Amino acid sequence: MFIGQQSKAQIIEDYARYVNPGRVSVFKQMGLDFVPGRREGVWLWDVDESRRLLNCRCSGGVFNLGHRPPRVVETLKAAMDEIDVGDHMLLDEMRAALGKRLAQLTPGDIQFSTFSPGGAEAIDVAIKLARGYTGRPGVISVKGGYHGHTGFALATGEDSFRGKFGPMPPGFSKVPFGDADALADAVSEETAAVIIETIPATAGMLIPPDDYYPRVRQICDAHGAQLIVDEVQSGLGRTGRMWAIEEWGVVPDILVTGKGLSGAVYPMSATCHRPHLDAFFQESPFIHLSSFGGAALGCVAALTTLDQTTEPGFMEHVQAMGERFEDGFVELRSRHQIVAGWRRRGLMIGFELVDPRMGPAMSVALAQNGVLAVFANHRPSTIQIMPPLIIQPDEVDFVLEALERSLTFLTAHPEMAELIPNVGVT
Ligand SMILES: Cc1ncc(COP(=O)(O)O)c(C=O)c1O
Repeated sequence: MFIGQQSKAQIIEDYARYVNPGRVSVFKQMGLDFVPGRREGVWLWDVDESRRLLNCRCSGGVFNLGHRPPRVVETLKAAMDEIDVGDHMLLDEMRAALGKRLAQLTPGDIQFSTFSPGGAEAIDVAIKLARGYTGRPGVISVKGGYHGHTGFALATGEDSFRGKFGPMPPGFSKVPFGDADALADAVSEETAAVIIETIPATAGMLIPPDDYYPRVRQICDAHGAQLIVDEVQSGLGRTGRMWAIEEWGVVPDILVTGKGLSGAVYPMSATCHRPHLDAFFQESPFIHLSSFGGAALGCVAALTTLDQTTEPGFMEHVQAMGERFEDGFVELRSRHQIVAGWRRRGLMIGFELVDPRMGPAMSVALAQNGVLAVFANHRPSTIQIMPPLIIQPDEVDFVLEALERSLTFLTAHPEMAELIPNVGVT
């Protein structure tokens, strides 16, 4: 009914004419003429059914449960017989239910949730809340991090994304990731918030030293700064734990989740915060509004997603599949000199090549071998491998075989590294 009504050539032509011609020419230049059509589980088929790709990009976690996860799809269909998006100003049963579930699942005493349609908006809410509560201007983020393309989220990021839109709001500064001493020097009584992706994905899936987050917590506490952790990519079971920050035993003041929160069938994100911060919303309960934030339909999709994610055996499966990847990586490194190593927690994987120019070429080679996986924009030597968390052993092996073939190809054709551009993806 919907897929394949037009020929692939027509879709590409219409996309170029009416949506974004620049993207079409970049994809052409890369030799990637894939137009997603049929989609199911870990797979995406080209609209002309000529080939399929195993989705290890996952849009950064949107497809954590795969494409069109049956339970979430069924719930959403059923919900459409009863509810709609709801009125965001009024009280709402579905929003209350999702808020309660998130309070149960988030670390420590995190209790309240404010909903938005997307991750960047949820980050904006977090920064508004931290500034509103503290009355301070300073927001410290980490170099190479990424929190979204709009508003305050954009202001936390790198000039590669925000440079053309200045002047940025004042008060934003950056420190190197993983360096608690640098953070200690930067935080002051003017700091409203320190914001960090627990495992920064766009920076190349960096894993901090063991004492980093406990020290970050102490530094924030010493100065009354609010600690915001962005779990938009690293949360919801991606690392084999519900939230990546649990590994460090630290409770942030604000935790932001999004992307996979509602099973890739409804846009939904949440800014979850601890009780002390609610003083700000008590004073001004209507100070942040979003027509589609916490849409009731999205809430039921999210509740079903969370049910599936918290089922017994789910995290163990993520861990087991992650270990299967790691065993394969050991073999790959023994055979291919262009493999520098990897960083991994669960199925959040940064596969490192020796040359930063190879990342974009590797993404193209992988696509030619049946796998969609993108290099990290702020560290292009890293290939981000983020398969759906429901991936099965034979599908892990498929990805490993595609890596094997792609590494062999790149070693034989080093000139590819010069040909493929870094196109500014996240
Ligand atoms: C860590 C992180 N935070 C926030 C965002 C922004 O989310 P959205 O694209 O839904 O606005 C992204 C998007 O890639 C992200 O990776």
